Amino acid sequence: MTTQQTLLVLLLVLTLLTGVMSSQEAQVLHVRVGEMVVLECPYLSHKDGGATPLWTNHSTQDVNVINNMSTSAEQMDVLIHGRSLVILRATINHQGNYSCTYGNASRRFCFGLTVYTTQSREHGEKNQNPSTCYTQQSCTLRCPAVNIPPVNITSNGIMWHKEGESSPQNGYFESISEKDSSVYTCTRSYLYRGQTYNMTFTVSLDVKPSSEILSPHKNEAFRVDLGSTVVINCTVFVNSDFDDAFWLSDGSFVETDNSFPVFYNSTRVKNSKEEKLTASLVFTKISEEDLLKNYTCKLESSHQSSSFVTITLTRKAHHFPLSLTLCIVAIVAVIVLTIGGAVILSRGCSRSKGCVRLNRAKRSSSHLSTSWSRV
Ligand SMILES: *[C@@H]1O[C@H](CO)[C@@H](O)[C@H](O)[C@H]1NC(C)=O
Ligand SMILES: *[C@@H]1O[C@H](CO)[C@@H](O)[C@H](O)[C@H]1NC(C)=O
Ligand SMILES: *[C@@H]1O[C@H](CO)[C@@H](O)[C@H](O)[C@H]1NC(C)=O
Ligand SMILES: *[C@@H]1O[C@H](CO)[C@@H](O)[C@H](O)[C@H]1NC(C)=O
Ligand SMILES: *[C@@H]1O[C@H](CO)[C@@H](O)[C@H](O)[C@H]1NC(C)=O
Ligand SMILES: *[C@@H]1O[C@H](CO)[C@@H](O)[C@H](O)[C@H]1NC(C)=O
Ligand SMILES: *[C@@H]1O[C@H](CO)[C@@H](O)[C@H](O)[C@H]1NC(C)=O
Ligand SMILES: *[C@@H]1O[C@H](CO)[C@@H](O)[C@H](O)[C@H]1NC(C)=O
Ligand SMILES: *[C@@H]1O[C@H](CO)[C@@H](O)[C@H](O)[C@H]1NC(C)=O
Repeated sequence: MTTQQTLLVLLLVLTLLTGVMSSQEAQVLHVRVGEMVVLECPYLSHKDGGATPLWTNHSTQDVNVINNMSTSAEQMDVLIHGRSLVILRATINHQGNYSCTYGNASRRFCFGLTVYTTQSREHGEKNQNPSTCYTQQSCTLRCPAVNIPPVNITSNGIMWHKEGESSPQNGYFESISEKDSSVYTCTRSYLYRGQTYNMTFTVSLDVKPSSEILSPHKNEAFRVDLGSTVVINCTVFVNSDFDDAFWLSDGSFVETDNSFPVFYNSTRVKNSKEEKLTASLVFTKISEEDLLKNYTCKLESSHQSSSFVTITLTRKAHHFPLSLTLCIVAIVAVIVLTIGGAVILSRGCSRSKGCVRLNRAKRSSSHLSTSWSRV
């Protein structure tokens, strides 16, 4: 096969594939009675630019081409504008299958429209737009976008409601908390010829805990010995695979290569409940220089502002063990007492009967000197 033939075959296969796809991929819309519906015929290529698609109603046995000019009561609320078919107020009768095409030779796009009664719970279930925010962060709810054809339909704002509450909300949280997890509805209002038409969407908001550095603490000072090996763990709770933690030393990145005297390596531990990341800063041999720097563990996240903790190293102060200190104090005290006693006795020795006491003091002083040498 020549290259040209191969290309031709490829093209044929591609055409067949897209042909199959177009008939399978129907866009399905779920709306409530009374709501406005916009079906937009997608562009196939720039050739279709200014073209108006032909809309077909497949809801009846006989397939109908929808046209604008119909004056039947049911179709009063149906407009064709540019690439869009607009049903101003949906009724149960509008439920069904529709398609659009830019001409006989063009691809056909399919739509399915399901209309629910006002009370139907199923509508909310089919229409959930999931959204995630993280505690203590700001959060903006987003109402799904609608492409309104460029006619005299004008937007009249968006209204938010929390499920089970009648008072409207603005869809913005300065600092969100877990109790704000709920189902919200947003209503886009439009004005057309003096009438208001609504499009309502459901957004289910899940508020998850933010990623955070659990340890070390801010400005913590680690006591170290010169020449020793020290590992400082930065433990981070992460809520996303895209969150990462790393170490900086005086503001520049610490190496991850363990042939360097100072490096870090990290591990992730994930279980069903949470994911923890540990970035271990390793000093193979603490030097004087290491004590002069500050070390920062920084948490970077794809969805929240970064946070960090800076620590320092200080040299361990070498004080004596407590028992040794007590011993020395005791010895000094005894020496002072002994000398004091000796002075008194030597004064008394001039008198004959005082000499016995001097001997006793001498004995206790020699006993003390043995305990001193033992220390
Ligand atoms: C349908 O009617 C609207 C206004 O009545 C008009 O602006 C629009 O061009 C018409 N569309 C078609 C395809 O005739
Ligand atoms: C499609 O046909 C059904 C059944 O005749 C009708 O009730 C409905 O209004 C039609 N839809 C549109 C958009 O004209
Ligand atoms: C719409 O099309 C689906 C299959 O694509 C079919 O199951 C359904 O019965 C159709 N609905 C109507 C009202 O024609
Ligand atoms: C499309 O096909 C119909 C019949 O299937 C025909 O009447 C019509 O002229 C064709 N239109 C174009 C643009 O080819
Ligand atoms: C849009 O509004 C203008 C004036 O407000 C009017 O002249 C025009 O006919 C309207 N167009 C349609 C399609 O309703
Ligand atoms: C449109 O939605 C608003 C706000 O939810 C509501 O007050 C109004 O009654 C609705 N209008 C229609 C026509 O459904
Ligand atoms: C530091 O973290 C590593 C990896 O999780 C762990 O094996 C080690 O025991 C930790 N060391 C300290 C001092 O917590
Ligand atoms: C850490 O060191 C850098 C560079 O010496 C300095 O800019 C920064 O302010 C220090 N940070 C802290 C918290 O001491
Ligand atoms: C980090 O490096 C140290 C020193 O090479 C090693 O003992 C430790 O096992 C490493 N930890 C991980 C999680 O790779």
